[in-house]
Amino acid sequence: MSGEYVAALPLRELAPGSMCAVGIGGRDVLLCHIKEGVTAFDNVCSHAQARMSEGRLRGTRLICPLHGASFDARDGRVLAPPATASLCRHAVRITDGVIEIALGATTPVHPGM
Ligand code: FES
Repeated sequence: MSGEYVAALPLRELAPGSMCAVGIGGRDVLLCHIKEGVTAFDNVCSHAQARMSEGRLRGTRLICPLHGASFDARDGRVLAPPATASLCRHAVRITDGVIEIALGATTPVHPGM
């Protein structure tokens, strides 16, 4: 199913400034609703496998619950250690008010809410 968009969650169920985990195609996926739009990543920290959905989202900073690494919620890049690798990002689009994800693909952040 890599590359195919599949429905993940109605946009209205993901408040601005919040994040949540959804299961898609057997993967645990993290959705972040930031000012720039909605982004999606594998819900696992690149450092030691913590679930990022149990951490915090502060603006565009995504903070791991286990050792405190932080990532940019726009593109998944590392902002602070101990993680050194980016989060695995997935493409997102909004269709008729529904967040859709394409696993394994990446695109620019969806612009409009
Ligand atoms: S598991 Fe995320 S910083 Fe260690």
